[in-house]
Amino acid sequence: MAKYEILILNGPNLGHLGQREPEIYGSQGMDDVPRLVDALLADRAGDVALTFFQANGEGELIDRLELAREQGVSGIVFNAGAYTHTSLALADSLAWIGIPCVEVHISNVWARPETIRHQSFMAARVVGVIAGFGIDSYALAVAALMNRLEHS
Ligand code: DQA
Repeated sequence: MAKYEILILNGPNLGHLGQREPEIYGSQGMDDVPRLVDALLADRAGDVALTFFQANGEGELIDRLELAREQGVSGIVFNAGAYTHTSLALADSLAWIGIPCVEVHISNVWARPETIRHQSFMAARVVGVIAGFGIDSYALAVAALMNRLEHS
């Protein structure tokens, strides 16, 4: 059994990465993430087991966060998509489940023209935020979370 179980959670409109607006979100999909994590973690890669889940609905995401709590998941890498900017309900869930979470965005949300993307309800409830590195954002978040778990 791996030392750390990490849930990689994707919210709305993130089920078709690689196809969705590749000029913003790139041409790689979530299938590429395990390889990127392996490359980044090198000899520590065996310490982590990744589970992937994507849902378009806010309720399904909250249900999955509650399940992660019941399962005793070590950490969460969470790209909540547009819910990042609108969902007090997701922020409320992160506030009580007691699992360290890294907020992730593929694009650099602060460099985008729609100012609503510059706001995050989640940010105050997470360990940190990684944005703007394309699909690598997920692998960087896994590595950051592992370092955090090692030292907590
Ligand atoms: C996103 C940024 C959000 O503003 C947007 O609604 C998404 C994806 C990103 O990964 O860059 O769906 O979270």
